Amino acid sequence: MNKQYYDVLASEEQEQIKSFLTKHKNVEKDPGYTKEFLDKTLKHFVVFSPSNQYRKLTSHTREDEHNEIRKALQQTKAKQTLEVGFAFGTSALVFAEHHQRMKNTGISHTIIDPNQYGTGEGNWEGIGAENLKRVGFVKNRNWRLVEASSIDALPAIYKKFGSGWLDVALIDGWHLFDYTLLDVFYCLQMLRVGGILIVDDKKMRAIKAVGKYVTRAYSHVVDICQSCPTVLVLRKKSEDKRDWNGDEKVNFNLA
Ligand SMILES: C[S@@+](CC[C@H](N)C(=O)[O-])C[C@H]1O[C@@H](n2cnc3c(N)ncnc32)[C@H](O)[C@@H]1O
Repeated sequence: MNKQYYDVLASEEQEQIKSFLTKHKNVEKDPGYTKEFLDKTLKHFVVFSPSNQYRKLTSHTREDEHNEIRKALQQTKAKQTLEVGFAFGTSALVFAEHHQRMKNTGISHTIIDPNQYGTGEGNWEGIGAENLKRVGFVKNRNWRLVEASSIDALPAIYKKFGSGWLDVALIDGWHLFDYTLLDVFYCLQMLRVGGILIVDDKKMRAIKAVGKYVTRAYSHVVDICQSCPTVLVLRKKSEDKRDWNGDEKVNFNLA
């Protein structure tokens, strides 16, 4: 994709992009429109606040990562999905596009993020939620937002919905070792056998260590994209049958 920063474009072109990204509501639920919305967002590094103020796109997942998410969604014919980490909603748009293409009904996507509606550093001004609205993916009809840290939200969701209901999950929240491992643990508990879990930023040391631990210790999980440079892609191939009473014979050297 040929990138062009929005803020250096001529004002006429800026106006066209702004109009596209703010005016249409995609009432037709056209997945092609949703993809075009995301493509423009990524091409010009631009998002607009709910009051249509320009903001530079930051903290987003990239097109090659979106293609891995798309592959997982298609392979599993996903009906129920979940992601940790919303920000400006670029990965959420990939999930929206899929659910629109599949014509899935009811709430099919769950998003966890404590900072969607705040302002200032590390907060997202409701832009992720507004972007989903702009592509016709409607809050509390097509998707739900859990405004809490994943370490509180995931156990509560697991308690409510139990195991085996989830087809695909993406983890892209707080990138610390312990937070990510907890996210992985709960997502795998909720994933059905055959479901796929994607963890972003596998180049980061903490995520790399989580990947090492999980692929060594969890024989019920397989890394299905070792060549993926930035995402860890895990398929749940069976239920977790580890012995509660065993002395775990795992190489715990995660360096
Ligand atoms: C890299 S951004 C997510 C980007 C998003 N997946 C995308 O593709 O546009 C990381 C997000 O994690 C959120 N976050 C930080 N700590 C979190 C936590 N404990 N639980 C859930 N989300 C968290 C941040 O608010 C931020 O929105």
